[in-house]
Amino acid sequence: MNETTPALAIAAHGLVKRFGANTAVAGLDLDVRRGEMFGLVGPDGAGKSTVIRLLCGLLKPDDGAARVLGFDLLGASAEVKRRIGYLSQNFTLYGDLTIDENIEFFAELHGVGGWQARRDELLAFTRLTPFRRRLAGALSGGMKKKLALACTLVHTPELIFLDEPSTGVDPVSRGEFWSILSGILAQGVTILMTTPYLDEAERCHRVALLYRGRVMRAGTPAEIRAGLPGRLYRLEAPSLPAAYRVLAAGRPVEQLVLYGDRLHLWSPTGAEAEARAAVAQLDTAGLGPARFQEITPTLEDVFIGLLGAEGASDEKAKI
Ligand SMILES: Nc1ncnc2c1ncn2[C@@H]1O[C@H](COP(=O)(O)OP(=O)(O)O)[C@@H](O)[C@H]1O
Ligand SMILES: [Mg+2]
Repeated sequence: MNETTPALAIAAHGLVKRFGANTAVAGLDLDVRRGEMFGLVGPDGAGKSTVIRLLCGLLKPDDGAARVLGFDLLGASAEVKRRIGYLSQNFTLYGDLTIDENIEFFAELHGVGGWQARRDELLAFTRLTPFRRRLAGALSGGMKKKLALACTLVHTPELIFLDEPSTGVDPVSRGEFWSILSGILAQGVTILMTTPYLDEAERCHRVALLYRGRVMRAGTPAEIRAGLPGRLYRLEAPSLPAAYRVLAAGRPVEQLVLYGDRLHLWSPTGAEAEARAAVAQLDTAGLGPARFQEITPTLEDVFIGLLGAEGASDEKAKI
């Protein structure tokens, strides 16, 4: 980085993209700093992929402006394209080509000189070297993603866009994928990724919660968690599904959320009396012994709370 390098990798203001009557991106402001891992989080249809395609210069916005790596996206899209990498949600590898041949193909597409050394480096980095002669079509989901990532990095981009990179990757490979991403960051590359998984977003430096093409909240995961008004409680009872059924009747949907092995009660006003009342209700219904404990919200709790506060709690099922 030299003195003229802008501190922001992405600065977008008022971006709008419509598809017919459908506004996919509705006045989006976004700042991504150099060297950070930024997560764009939101349910299906929130506009994540459209934002990425706008920022890569693959779609023209109907309104707004963006600077990417210091260049005006509309005026200098060729300059931008040379410096970025894009791993699309439905990326395509050549199934009848080997790992080596796929990387070679993308290297030539980008006009990378001396690509053999870069390929060796990327194979080592993504731990694919032992499999380099294997056909891409015969790889597991996790290995395909690693190969796609290697292809995205072949021209040494300064900024990469990863659209749902961990979707379709099994949990074990996901851990490895994240450690590879940390390695990319350590080399100074900026990462903008999208994910529908809020637990994954907690690993980003900063995140933006996207909903209906707008940023609802942006900041570090800690800042966003601290922004949920009121208090959050974890309820304990012998049967959480039974407890959920009894408590859900008569409570706003966003205030009570069952996550498999956890039952969360959100009090927007922060009244502990609400948690005490819920516990008493369970004991009375013969579903005790019940207890409650105040906890720190997760990003998921915040998102569900915010959706509820905006009268959109029907959408929470999609997260
Ligand atoms: N090429 C397109 N033509 C028409 N509608 C589109 C197109 N791409 C996206 N959309 C619509 O824009 C909205 C946002 O989509 P998308 O950006 O793919 O969301 P996400 O990636 O968060 O799931 C959706 O309503 C989707 O149907
Ligand atoms: Mg998408």
